[in-house]
Amino acid sequence: MDLTPFKDIIKERCGLSFDDVRNAILEEGIRKRMSGRGMESPAMYLFVLVSEQGEFNDLVNLVTINETYFFREHAHLKLLTERLVSEKLADKSPNGKLRILSAGCSTGEEPYSIALYLMEKYGAGINGFISVIGADIDGAAIESAQNGIFGSHSFRGFPDNLKKKYFEECGCNRYKIKDFVREKVEFRRLNLLSDSYPEELKMLDIIFYRNVSIYFEPGTQRSIFSNLAGLLREDGYLFLSATETLSHNFGILSLVEMDGMFFFRNKRERDPGCKTHDAGMVVKRCALNGENAANSPRRNAQSASCIVDYALGVSHKAPDTGAFFDEALSFAKGKRYVEALEKIEAIPENDRFFVRAHMLKAGILINMKNMKEAETACMRGIEADRWCLEGYLLLGLIYKMQNDYENALKRFREALYIQSSSWPAHFYLAELYGSAGEPEKACREYEITERLLAKGDMPDYGFTFFPVSFPAENMARLCKHKVSELRNRMKKERIG
Ligand SMILES: C[S@@+](CC[C@H](N)C(=O)[O-])C[C@H]1O[C@@H](n2cnc3c(N)ncnc32)[C@H](O)[C@@H]1O
Repeated sequence: MDLTPFKDIIKERCGLSFDDVRNAILEEGIRKRMSGRGMESPAMYLFVLVSEQGEFNDLVNLVTINETYFFREHAHLKLLTERLVSEKLADKSPNGKLRILSAGCSTGEEPYSIALYLMEKYGAGINGFISVIGADIDGAAIESAQNGIFGSHSFRGFPDNLKKKYFEECGCNRYKIKDFVREKVEFRRLNLLSDSYPEELKMLDIIFYRNVSIYFEPGTQRSIFSNLAGLLREDGYLFLSATETLSHNFGILSLVEMDGMFFFRNKRERDPGCKTHDAGMVVKRCALNGENAANSPRRNAQSASCIVDYALGVSHKAPDTGAFFDEALSFAKGKRYVEALEKIEAIPENDRFFVRAHMLKAGILINMKNMKEAETACMRGIEADRWCLEGYLLLGLIYKMQNDYENALKRFREALYIQSSSWPAHFYLAELYGSAGEPEKACREYEITERLLAKGDMPDYGFTFFPVSFPAENMARLCKHKVSELRNRMKKERIG
């Protein structure tokens, strides 16, 4: 099926774009809707899609990615409740409400998490002075958010005592949010790319817009960011997920940092409570050094001075640390791990080889079965470069090797946010699902891996140093074999 005209209309109307992996989801959605409408011709269905808004909405509901869970990136929620909300409430007029929007709220876990954090801090009467709104283009997701019933996947990492306090079991391992929480959040359908937003969504104090922009191209990301910025009150805040923030430093809002987290503020002056980074400067500095910005205090001090240098046009001549890195790699390959680690330690934190060196260090430590320090090395690499795919893959492996299913799953999914065509991430997800007794999901991931390998994406594993004993070229065959094994098993179980 030629997906091009379908992709064009979806991109134009709601910004979503499709890479090779997500094409399969789109095609499946189109076929499902065609059969729902009793149609056999894609051309005829395209005609209906263009002319009927209802049909367009139904297809969009099938192709959005709704992955979400309670207390996701909870450091943001903590910052929100502990610092930003209290600061804002102190400034509020007595009858004005503080207004918080979760833009792209999916099935509601994000806005409910905001409400739960606020209730834990300010008590059950928060709706007297705070209003929380969730909005999403996916009507089915909004309906599910309003119903407030959640499966176990929504609760990964969610404390048991809060589950008991705010949810009641409603059978089949599903939990319903209690009415007194449900009524704290208002939901509505909204296309973030639309030209005009409803009045009720204007004058917001805080917007959470996390894990939504990853499906948009840069032009669309900018338009939506600019729309959202226009909804903020003076001094309002806008949060994206940690991996999205720096790529949104368009100069529309000020990028600020507080407690090691980056987010945006609708204000240009410097504020004593947070560091303000002039728009564009952080990203430009990173481009100069061939790395991404980070949030450790030491690096912030360095980045502040680099920003000034950049503004003054001072150039930095990097020391030749490439030689250290090459030597470390060759020691590692010769299994001279201690010498390799010594070389890595000589690479300073602001160096352009720092991230690769830490990936190498993590690989070595995994080989030495020192998982704790391997984990730390990955974290340091990710702290220096939030888009470090290898860091997430290695963390996933570390947790998988320790049978920590939830954390391994989380890390491989994060790897896919960074690069949806990473076959090692799909492969290891397949392995995890297989071992967790989820054969359908495992087959799907093996099949994606096979398709990606057939296209020649990332022919090796993409690790700096991780001597995987199984050659990548045999991986496609292995996946095929695993799928047929799993399908046979499922068939036997059905018959039995
Ligand atoms: C991966 S979920 C993120 C959920 C939540 N914000 C979180 O971080 O857990 C992305 C959501 O963005 C929504 N979305 C995608 N395009 C949108 C658009 N143009 N307008 C509104 N929502 C959109 C999808 O329907 C999906 O529910």
